[in-house]
Amino acid sequence: MKKNIVSSPIKPVILLLGATGQLGKLIVDRLRKNDTISLRVTSRKTEQLPGLKKQYGDAVYLDLDDPRTFGDALKGVERVYLLTGYTVNMLVQSKAIIDAAKKADIKHIVHLGVFTPKFDCYDPHFAWHQMIEVYLKNSGISYTFLHPNCFMQNLTGFYSIVKNGKVRFYTNETKVGWIALEDVADASVKILTEGPSKHQGKDYWFSTESLNVSEIAQILSEVIGHKFLADAQPPEQFIKDFGAGKPYIDPYFLGVAECFRQIVDGRMSYISEVRDDLPHLIGRKGMSLKEWAKVHKEELLQVVKKEQRD
Ligand SMILES: NC(=O)c1ccc[n+]([C@@H]2O[C@H](COP(=O)([O-])OP(=O)(O)OC[C@H]3O[C@@H](n4cnc5c(N)ncnc54)[C@H](OP(=O)(O)O)[C@@H]3O)[C@@H](O)[C@H]2O)c1
Repeated sequence: MKKNIVSSPIKPVILLLGATGQLGKLIVDRLRKNDTISLRVTSRKTEQLPGLKKQYGDAVYLDLDDPRTFGDALKGVERVYLLTGYTVNMLVQSKAIIDAAKKADIKHIVHLGVFTPKFDCYDPHFAWHQMIEVYLKNSGISYTFLHPNCFMQNLTGFYSIVKNGKVRFYTNETKVGWIALEDVADASVKILTEGPSKHQGKDYWFSTESLNVSEIAQILSEVIGHKFLADAQPPEQFIKDFGAGKPYIDPYFLGVAECFRQIVDGRMSYISEVRDDLPHLIGRKGMSLKEWAKVHKEELLQVVKKEQRD
C-alpha cells in the first residue's frame, strides 16, 4: 500500500544570527512574512531585545563570544543561520556554536562564507571560512555553504568605498565579482525554509557581475547623476586608510589587505569570476550593479552629501 506522507504540523524553528547586521536585516524582513517557519532572532545587546521581540516575535540573548548563552537560544531550534562579523573571533565563535548545535541536536546549519572556489587558498579570512566549513562537515550536522563574492553594499556600508566623491578600491584596476545582498537574502530564505532535505551538502555561489573600479564609477555616475571618479589604489593602501588613527586592527582586516594583494598578483584571480546560482535557487539572475544602484540611489546620494559636509 502507498504510504501517505503527512508533513509535520509543527513549524521548524529557525535561529537567525546577525539579524541586526546588513545581511541579517534583509533576511529577517523576508522570513518574518513566511508562515511555514517559526523565526527566532538573536542579539548580544540586551537593550535591543524588546525592540526585536516587538518586530519579529521571538528574540533571545546570544553572545557569540560567550558559549554559555547558546544553550537556551538553541532550545527547540531545527535550523541555524550561521553568520559572524568582521573579526578573527569568527573562528572560535563558529566552532563553539557548531559544538552547541551538535549537543542541541540541530538538524541544519546554513553557513555564510566567502567566495572560495579553489581549496588551496591562503588569504587568512578566506582560509578561516574554509576551516569552519570543514569543521561543520565533520560535525555530522546537515550543512549548506553560501559563497558570496564582494558585497555591493560595501559601497554604502560601514566602511564605504565611496570616499571624497570617488570610488576608492584597492586592487588597482583588477576586476572583482560583486553580489547584491538582497539576492543573498532571497537565496538564504529559500534554503532556510526548504531545509536540509533539499539543500544538505550543497555549495551555492553568488557573483553576478565582474567589475573594476573605473567601471563601477561609470555605472554609479550614470545612475546617480553625480560624477563619480575612479580612485584605483594598490593593495598596500588599504591598511593605511583603514588603520588611520586606530590603535588596533583586527586580524580580519589584515586578511582583507592580503586578499587585495593576492587578487592583484593573480593568486586569487578567481575573485573576478561570474558564477550565479540564483537562477537554480530562486528562478532569476542576480541584480547587476546598475539595478542595485537604482534601488540604492538615495543612500548613495547620502554618502556623497555626507562627504561633502565632512
Ligand atoms: N563585505 C563583503 O564584501 C563580504 C563578502 C563575502 C562574505 N562576507 C562575510 O559576511 C559576514 C558579515 O556579514 P554582514 O556584512 O551582514 O555583517 P555585519 O553587518 O557586520 O553584521 C554582523 C552581525 O553579527 C552580529 N554579531 C557580531 N558579533 C557578535 C557577537 N559576539 N555575538 C552575537 N552577534 C554578533 C552583529 O550584531 P551587533 O548588532 O550586536 O553588532 C550583527 O548583527 C562575514 O562573515 C564576512 O566574512 C562579507
